[in-house]
Amino acid sequence: MIKVAFIASEAVPFAKTGGLADVAGALPRFLGARGAEVRVFLPLYGSTRARASELSLVKKADFSLPGWRGAHDRFCLWESQRDNFRVQLIEQEGYFDRPGLYGTSGGDFQDNGERFGFFCLAVLEAMKRDSFRPDIVHAHDWQSAPALAYLRHRYAQDEHYKSTRSVFTIHNLAYQGLFDGDILERIGLPAGLFHHQEMEFYGRLNFLKAGILYSSAVTTVSPTYSREIQTPEFGCGLDGLLRHRSHVLSGILNGVDYSEWNPAEDGRLAARYTPDDLRGKARCRTDLLRTFGLPSGGRPVPVVGLVTRLAGQKGLDILAESLEDLFREKLRLVILGQGEPALEERLAAARDKHPAAFGLHIGFDETVAHKIYAGSDLFLIPSRYEPCGLTQMYSLKYGTPPVVRATGGLEDTVQEFDPAASRGNGFKFQEATSDSLLQAVRRALGVMKKADLRLSLIRNAMACDFSWDRSAGEYLDLYRRILAQP
Ligand code: ADP
Ligand code: GLC
Repeated sequence: MIKVAFIASEAVPFAKTGGLADVAGALPRFLGARGAEVRVFLPLYGSTRARASELSLVKKADFSLPGWRGAHDRFCLWESQRDNFRVQLIEQEGYFDRPGLYGTSGGDFQDNGERFGFFCLAVLEAMKRDSFRPDIVHAHDWQSAPALAYLRHRYAQDEHYKSTRSVFTIHNLAYQGLFDGDILERIGLPAGLFHHQEMEFYGRLNFLKAGILYSSAVTTVSPTYSREIQTPEFGCGLDGLLRHRSHVLSGILNGVDYSEWNPAEDGRLAARYTPDDLRGKARCRTDLLRTFGLPSGGRPVPVVGLVTRLAGQKGLDILAESLEDLFREKLRLVILGQGEPALEERLAAARDKHPAAFGLHIGFDETVAHKIYAGSDLFLIPSRYEPCGLTQMYSLKYGTPPVVRATGGLEDTVQEFDPAASRGNGFKFQEATSDSLLQAVRRALGVMKKADLRLSLIRNAMACDFSWDRSAGEYLDLYRRILAQP
């Protein structure tokens, strides 16, 4: 049985800001179902305390970290037993008991390097003390990448980790974790790593680089993104290094946890529905319009939904430029999102201008998210880049065809609907421009107007199967391959 330590900074149901949480919360169960023994490690954030009843204390604060010179140095270990895997949480109030995971609306926490260095070192020490000897350490994104630096540069001779191999998954190359070089010694790593062939990057220390350099294999969350990041356009300055590591780099598409995302069973909806009986979807639509305070009577007008972090990546500036033209198409728009204050303000101003057509909810709300996937007619994702994207996979399952920019995982999961053959599950546009977006939305509206085409499109969408089991199989193959290497 392969033993896997999953190190991530968020996982449902304990902490979530985006798709990483969905992945780290679901994939372990599917690895477990295929026989792996998985432990997921997370920080215990202030917001995680709401789930305290599910946690049990494993070890009190008797851990201290060898070589650690940061502000806080002891931690408690908590645990939650899930179906077929375990979640262990690192409690260190000084670092993690704050509003927000990585920062507040005012910006990132100043000590994020120290916080996540601490988290990673604590995880490695916790596994040692608990005699959990992982075959694979699987770390995700920059927050967990230091684990691989510690393994390579502090535990290389350690008996406990002597046969451990590692996988690093890039969920988003643009977030790299950049800090001052002098942090290295404080977090117990050799100062010599501040070197261009190691973790140094244009005068700063780059956590993500440690993941790419010091792992046995690197993955990204879709095949297209794994190719894109090797080009200057998408490489965020690391494309050269990624080309250099291309022999260990691959793309494994994310999946969907259909026990959580399924309109036939979703308790958050006003009504449930299946591809054979879509009446419930119409009720979800009315409920959605009411939730957003939009007019819901009269002849149905198409509803276009978005659920998104409000970040540059997501192409909301392209949407904002298209709004006046979109509203001329007589549609309703509903957006749930939070993030960059400038984008929040821009959208709020547009909502104030079109209050009867535009519903905007600034905030993070799981129930409203489910209502949008179910109650919209089309789901819009104008991303400038998208490593995988889960929201198009959710909207497909809810029979809400996605209109997406053809990039990353959106390219891999959405096929343009062909009315002549009734094939395809959504609509794609190539250019990151308002014109290109508008053309795709108009094509989609054209199809949605014709009852028979609309029904085939919805059924094609709902028939897509992105279950995690396939991806879990690919990860296990990868684990076995690297474990077989000398
Ligand atoms: P990313 O990780 O880049 O944000 P993904 O498409 O992979 O994009 O995943 C986004 C996840 O976060 C989805 O589960 C989506 O439903 C959820 N989400 C994003 N914004 C919100 C929000 N404001 N409220 C509730 N859920 C949200
Ligand atoms: C990142 C990406 C998103 C991906 C998610 C989970 O947040 O932006 O595209 O789906 O990670 O892998």
